[in-house]
Amino acid sequence: MLKFAVIGVGRMGKRHAFNLAHGLLSGVKLQAVCDIDSKALDWCKKHAKRANRYSDYKQMIATEKLDGVIIATPHYSHEEIAVYLIEHGVNVLIEKPASPTVTMAKHIAEVAKAHPEVKAGVSYNQRSNRMYKKAKEMLSSGKLGDIQRVNFIITDWYRSQAYYNQGGWRASYVGEGGGCLMNQCIHQIDVLQWLIGMPKHITATAHTVDRKITVENDVTAILGYNNFDCAFTASTHEIKGVNRLEIACDKGRLVIGSRRMKIFRHKSQVIVNRETKFGYGATPSTSSTYGYGCIRYIADLIKGQQLRSIRAFAKDIKGKGKMLATAQEGENALQIINGIYLSAYKNSRVALPLDEGEYGEYLKNRIEWEGQNTKK
Ligand SMILES: NC(=O)c1ccc[n+]([C@@H]2O[C@H](COP(=O)([O-])OP(=O)(O)OC[C@H]3O[C@@H](n4cnc5c(N)ncnc54)[C@H](O)[C@@H]3O)[C@@H](O)[C@H]2O)c1
Repeated sequence: MLKFAVIGVGRMGKRHAFNLAHGLLSGVKLQAVCDIDSKALDWCKKHAKRANRYSDYKQMIATEKLDGVIIATPHYSHEEIAVYLIEHGVNVLIEKPASPTVTMAKHIAEVAKAHPEVKAGVSYNQRSNRMYKKAKEMLSSGKLGDIQRVNFIITDWYRSQAYYNQGGWRASYVGEGGGCLMNQCIHQIDVLQWLIGMPKHITATAHTVDRKITVENDVTAILGYNNFDCAFTASTHEIKGVNRLEIACDKGRLVIGSRRMKIFRHKSQVIVNRETKFGYGATPSTSSTYGYGCIRYIADLIKGQQLRSIRAFAKDIKGKGKMLATAQEGENALQIINGIYLSAYKNSRVALPLDEGEYGEYLKNRIEWEGQNTKK
């Protein structure tokens, strides 16, 4: 039986602690929990009775013999805690984002590289979505040919003012390092780069629409690749819409929604163009549907898709599988998100890999500006 602990028993950590304390992951038990807030530990007394409770994660690590630890604290604390755990030989799964900046995520990845005996990863749980896995398999196999165009529209993470009024560290540069991209859409941005690779440059706009917050809730970006562009849109202010990724390739097209992926196949477009004599009417030769899976969908609604991430982490520790995303992969989504912020701010194209020094300056300025604009 693997002994796990959760650091940070807030909204997400409670779910992890509850699931593990109630045996939802076979072969894993909740050995300990840690939170600096006594109310969170009081919750654990009731809902995770058997777990030992700590208010200091260093004391917990010194006292308990743990096989794995899940970090579910606010974003800026991830780097310090993850580095400490890895250096003390503890396997660690960091809730997304690895950290708010590329520089911090790189630091974690470097420490993890220096400790290959330790399993270190990031909980990008949407990689467990079987439609994305199938898409990855199809794109990597070359069956669809080269990518020619990509569109991602994400309008299904609606957040009202009431959500932001709950306060805390959310929706601020100082608290979480960004807005809808850093908090919600990071999942899809990670999946995007996992499927189609990293862009070479970014041109973006980012706005705050109809909410009293200092971070963005509306983004439009062009992610430029060598041979194609990806048009990316994200909004968390408009009435709940879609999560739609469309990848058009030379020999087919994938249209991936929340529950279903449509797979269109056709001859190479070069040949179709040559053979279509009347100028109109080229249609796909086959189409099929691949679903999220009804039982999976219901299971994820009840237990949270995040449990799949912990399961993969546990399997990796046991040598029976691989975690969904390693610490090394944690940086990629942040390259894109930090790049979008910088491009929107400068109103110009930003090349990747990111100029980390420039981004550090930008973030410092934004935090200062935020402080001046939110003074009571
Ligand atoms: N994978 C997902 O789908 C998903 C969903 C929601 C949140 N998250 C992520 O989970 C993390 C936590 O988010 P949340 O919404 O649960 O936040 P939260 O504010 O509700 O909870 C954070 C908890 O961490 C505790 N904490 C802060 N610093 C600590 C420290 N040094 N040691 C111990 N405890 C500490 C706080 O007291 C609080 O109880 C974030 O990284 C967030 O982005 C992931």
